[in-house]
Amino acid sequence: MAIRTCFSAFLLLLLPLEFIAVMGVTPPPPLPQCRPIVADDRDLIQFALNLEFLEAEFFLYGALGDGLDVLAPSLAQGGPPPVGGRKANLDPVIRRIIEEFAYQEIGHLRAITESVGGVPRPRLNISAEAFAALFNRAMNTTLSPPFNPYANSLNYLLASYVIPYVGLVGYVGTIPNLVGRTNRELVASLLGVESGQDAVIRTLLYLRANEKVMPYGVTVADFTDRISEIRNRLGRCGMKDEGLKVPKQLGAENRTTSNILSADADSLSYSRTQPEILRTVYGTGDESRPGGFLPNGGVGRIAMRFRAT
Ligand SMILES: *[C@@H]1O[C@H](CO)[C@@H](O)[C@H](O)[C@H]1NC(C)=O
Ligand SMILES: *[C@@H]1O[C@H](CO)[C@@H](O)[C@H](O)[C@H]1NC(C)=O
Ligand SMILES: *[C@@H]1O[C@H](CO)[C@@H](O)[C@H](O)[C@H]1NC(C)=O
Repeated sequence: MAIRTCFSAFLLLLLPLEFIAVMGVTPPPPLPQCRPIVADDRDLIQFALNLEFLEAEFFLYGALGDGLDVLAPSLAQGGPPPVGGRKANLDPVIRRIIEEFAYQEIGHLRAITESVGGVPRPRLNISAEAFAALFNRAMNTTLSPPFNPYANSLNYLLASYVIPYVGLVGYVGTIPNLVGRTNRELVASLLGVESGQDAVIRTLLYLRANEKVMPYGVTVADFTDRISEIRNRLGRCGMKDEGLKVPKQLGAENRTTSNILSADADSLSYSRTQPEILRTVYGTGDESRPGGFLPNGGVGRIAMRFRAT
């Protein structure tokens, strides 16, 4: 009882502290659900396979109509095939870009597997319905017809906006917690390409920022804004994700409303912990409740550890 009262008082204290932090004094310590987890290098790096598998399958199917089981079956290590992947109706330039990204993901999977050992691919739900569910949540409505990522280049790019960015912020969060030099080298190099992919996707979308996504009548910029917002809500650790157009206070040096890259007040990348990433890709806001793109949960020791029994 006394402990609980004490804790409530502590929470009350946190409010003014956060306010002071905004004014430029010491930032508050991270909320308990936002602190880095303790895990060894191997588990931290294998965790990343969840997102690498997701990206690999989504990009491979989107560009080529086939997944890892056709292009690099050994990397799946016998994990179940993904559900609902399809060849997307892409224009030639976007197809070329996505195909390149897809092969890059195969390289990433191979590099991680050779370096720390692989894990079997998780069950992935990359169906149009899985994306439609996320887009409905982001827009807080039931889009009609349901959002279909495979229908055209613009929809596919919007769906792609959802994925590499989560990998990027995950790698930023991972590197400081790695002990081994070769492990840090590996993840720094993965981060480089992941952030490149995110930048390309965001730039391509920015070029069409004011275009209305048909037939919804909502602009590309507004879609990105809402997707970023739902990710922030699901992550439960504050604002770490920004759409393509922002109020100036969120732009670079408070001087831009364009926001081609999502970054903090010093234009440094945001970072996320593994639980934050699970909350987001599960779409449940809860690292112990799988769903969304990973209906049976993530693979590797970290994801298993959070799985409700
Ligand atoms: C994939 O996601 C959709 C939308 O949430 C859902 O209806 C479908 O049952 C899911 N499939 C699997 C195998 O989880
Ligand atoms: C979603 O829409 C409902 C009404 O349709 C509204 O009551 C609710 O506040 C909205 N939620 C958010 C997060 O905007
Ligand atoms: C931009 O505004 C935020 C508050 O909104 C402030 O913390 C930050 O220092 C400002 N940055 C610059 C470069 O003026």
